[in-house]
Amino acid sequence: MGGLLAMAALIGGAPTVVLVTLAALGELRAGTALAAILLCLTAALALSWLWLSGMARLAAVLLRAADEEGPFSAPLPLPRLPAIGRVEEGLGRLARSLAARAALVTQLRASDGAIVEALPDPLLILGADRSLLRANTAARRVFGLQRDMAARGDLGALLRHPLMAAALDHALADDRPQATELALPGALTRELSAQVLALNPPLADGGKLLVVLTDRTAARAVERMRVDFIANASHELRTPLASIIGFIETLRGPAKDDPVAQERFLGIMAEQSERMRRLIDDLLGLSRVEISEHQAPEGEADLTALLQAEAAALEPLFAARRIHLALALPEAPLLAAPADADQLAQVARNLLDNALRHATHEVRLEAGPARHGNRDGVTFSVIDDGPGIPREHLPRLTERFYRVDKARARGVGNTGLGLAIVKHILARHRGQLSIDSEIGQGSTFKVWVPGK
Ligand SMILES: Nc1ncnc2c1ncn2[C@@H]1O[C@H](COP(=O)(O)OP(=O)(O)O)[C@@H](O)[C@H]1O
Ligand SMILES: [Mg+2]
Repeated sequence: MGGLLAMAALIGGAPTVVLVTLAALGELRAGTALAAILLCLTAALALSWLWLSGMARLAAVLLRAADEEGPFSAPLPLPRLPAIGRVEEGLGRLARSLAARAALVTQLRASDGAIVEALPDPLLILGADRSLLRANTAARRVFGLQRDMAARGDLGALLRHPLMAAALDHALADDRPQATELALPGALTRELSAQVLALNPPLADGGKLLVVLTDRTAARAVERMRVDFIANASHELRTPLASIIGFIETLRGPAKDDPVAQERFLGIMAEQSERMRRLIDDLLGLSRVEISEHQAPEGEADLTALLQAEAAALEPLFAARRIHLALALPEAPLLAAPADADQLAQVARNLLDNALRHATHEVRLEAGPARHGNRDGVTFSVIDDGPGIPREHLPRLTERFYRVDKARARGVGNTGLGLAIVKHILARHRGQLSIDSEIGQGSTFKVWVPGK
């Protein structure tokens, strides 16, 4: 109210003084002067009121914009002057574009955050003092981080690891990305590769170092397996080769004129060559199966027909060893699908071959429909009455070159690859192999594959 009166006095003061003076000098009639003064003061009051309420509106609009509330979110109970209306409109637009920009920034930050969170590799952000500021989902899962982000346990060990500490130091000092490979000891040694980047300028939360980790444990295990495999394969091939070379030398030297010894040595050499041929065949077979492993089979296979054919083909070998092959196969077709008939025949052949080699009197071959979990399928079992397999060996039988009795099993045709091939074929068919054996009670190898 005081402001209104002061402003009105300021506007209306001068004309009023002029009017009073004119009236006093007799230039104006008192009545006219009084009317003019009243008019002038009323106009001054009205103008002041409009001006001040316009200012109050602008102030309210500004305050609302500053509070990030829409400038016109609620109507203002104040009148306005046209000029002030335009200023108000301009302010409104400014506030709206600022709000839109703020929303965009929030959205961008959220999507950046979401990308970092979704990265499959663990990612850490550290302050210049190496304290952990942020960790994405993968890092929290790998290191079991709690909400408070305290770098305990494995993560603490990682950040204190000399190689890691050196990489962090170098990244900070040289401002260049650093990479390091390290092994974190623990219940299960973890092999990690770490990339360290200094963030320049630092992040808003003080983040100065970005650490991206890749878990190489599985890849290293595969690498070691491959190296082991090559070493094993060469070893398996070298043994018969060394024996053949030895006999060639004997035949050229000491046994040069001994036809009986020559005959015997040539027999052994033929056997060893056959062994090498089988080994190479199996290695090639294994690699073929491995190549196709990640590609599902197509078509279907009738187990009844396929098992009958394999049994018939092996019959002479069973007869030669005086082992009875008992078949318990259904009359009707047993359809495996999706399935590769040739590969399933190979599974049957490898299992029958093992059973024949280990059986004492009899091998049984059974087949029938069977469910596995909630999946329909077909199953067949090869059961022998041999010596059985000690329990501790069962989980490792399908490893390449794994043999229970190394010395005894290295006869012709024993490559130690038969069950590895079986395992890969069944993996490709999304099937199962279960081995059941009891010392002195024989062994049962049971195969299940999906069917319809
Ligand atoms: N029916 C069986 N009875 C006893 N032992 C078996 C039987 N089948 C497989 N084994 C054992 O598993 C090992 C691996 O079998 P496999 O992978 O077929 O290789 P290979 O037959 O060439 O030795 C064999 O060396 C043998 O020790
Ligand atoms: Mg075998």
